[in-house]
This record gives sequence, C-alpha cells and structure tokens, in this order.
Amino acid sequence: MGLRPLDLAHWLEIDEQRDIELAQKEDLLERVPDLVVATQAQGLAASEELLVHAAEWFRNYAPSIALASRPDDHPVVQVARWSQEDFCVLEYSDAWRLTAACVCFPSRWDLRSKIGQTLDAIHEPVPGYDITLASTTSKFFDRLKPERAFWRLNWTLLDSGTLHQPFAERRPPDGDLGKWFFRVERQTLRALPETAAVIFTIRNYVTSLQELATSAEFMEHLLLGIETAPVAMQQYKGWVGVADVLRAAIAAG
Ligand code: HEM
Repeated sequence: MGLRPLDLAHWLEIDEQRDIELAQKEDLLERVPDLVVATQAQGLAASEELLVHAAEWFRNYAPSIALASRPDDHPVVQVARWSQEDFCVLEYSDAWRLTAACVCFPSRWDLRSKIGQTLDAIHEPVPGYDITLASTTSKFFDRLKPERAFWRLNWTLLDSGTLHQPFAERRPPDGDLGKWFFRVERQTLRALPETAAVIFTIRNYVTSLQELATSAEFMEHLLLGIETAPVAMQQYKGWVGVADVLRAAIAAG
C-alpha cells in the first residue's frame, strides 16, 4: 500500500501555487460543479466534522491564511476552497463507501461514477487491485485511528500538465519530452473521532519532464519504474511504448 505515518502538522501542504490553484477550483466549481462535487445526504455530518478539523488545522499551522466562508457551500466544498488538496469522505456502512467529495483535480477518473461506491468498486479499473490491495486496504480502513494518520504517493506520466483531468482516457504521451509531464499525487488518510469517517486527501504536483530530464539519475529511476510495472498496469497507466521513448531520450543524452 506504500503508506507512511503522517505528522498532522503536514496534513495539508501550502505553496506558491496556492492562489492559482484556488482560482482554478473556483472557476471549476462555478462552471462544472457536477464534475467536481458529488455528495450523498449521509455524508453531510462527516463533512461538517471535516470542516471543523480543517479550520482547526489552518488556525494551528497556517494562521496567516484568512478562511472565507460561504454559507451556501456544502462543507466538503468549503474545505476544498481553502486548500490545494482535493477531499474525499468515506464512511463504513456495509463496506467503506465514498459519501462526499470535492475533487477538482482528478487524474483521469470521473467522480460521478465513484460516489456511493465501495473502495473495491472505485478501484475496479485498477489491474490487480482486487488480488493485491483490496483486502489489506479495507482492513487498514477498519483499523485507522484518529491519532495516527498516513500518507502515500502515486505517480504517472501524462501528455498534459492540466490539473483538472476528469476524463478516463489514458493514452501514452507521444512527441518530444517537452510535451510530457510527471504528475505526483500525494495522498493522505486520517480518521475523524466523532463520525469515524475516513478523510482521503489528494494533492497534485505536476512538472514538465523536460525540466526533470536534466537529472540522469531521475530519468534512470523513471525508466526503471515504468519497465518493471506489470504489463496490465502499463496499459492502465497509458505507458505502452513509453519505456522505449525514454530509453532513446536517455541514450541521446
Ligand atoms: C490505502 C488506500 C489506497 C490504496 C492503496 C489505493 C491504491 C490505488 C492504486 C494502486 C491505484 C492505481 C493508480 C495509479 O497508480 O494510477 C488507485 C487508483 C484510484 N484510487 Fe486508490 N487507493 C487507496 C485509497 C483510495 C481512496 C480512499 C479513494 C477514494 C476516492 C481512491 C480512489 C481512487 C481512484 C478514483 C482511482 C482511479 C481509478 C480509475 O482509474 O477509475 N483510492 N488507487
């Protein structure tokens, strides 16, 4: 699962892109709310609890940031407007299910198809998830306690640097490296004490591959990561043929 313990002081991350990313969120929430917000009635109490904890986090760790509130916003949307992170609320009923979310920057998946779904159903397109991860992830959720949060990373290569990519099509990037982007998702998981909901945050960092290509060591690691991924995962991620292009780029210096 690649999970590491998280000091809650680092639950959210704030950087110089904040104004730009929050403006993008505002625009998306205005133009395409149905693509970026999905909530169920039963997710409201946990979203309200999330709002309280997020406000407390900003007070403690980023006190200079003024938190504007919009009374008409769903609490999960309110929190998402304060943060560069996207937020998903999961609650246990018959299984762990997604009950509320504001995801402005999905990496080629459609939030509308995931709301109300179980962890297993959400991950249905992920090759091997059912065999290698489903049972451990679900048990991990069962055992997660408010005092111990966790984080993990996911990465991919994409042919677009745009943060908002709701469409499921995963095509291998082509053309020159200047048009490729290395996208890292930093994800966190924490349980809330009152509602026992699990909050899953996703934060995206995107860098042009051309910039990163100046490091031979990075390129070798990237190639290794792609080459050693199972074929089904390479297909899912849109990496078919990418190793060959990277190898040629490395050889050309
Ligand atoms: C320990 C917890 C989790 C693990 C180990 C895990 C693992 C994974 C993996 C391996 C992938 C394939 C991603 C890739 O590398 O591109 C994936 C995709 C995904 N995960 Fe998770 N995940 C976890 C929690 C969650 C949660 C809580 C959500 C809630 C929304 C979620 C939503 C998704 C979605 C939407 C995708 C893309 C699926 C698609 O292609 O339609 N994950 N996850």
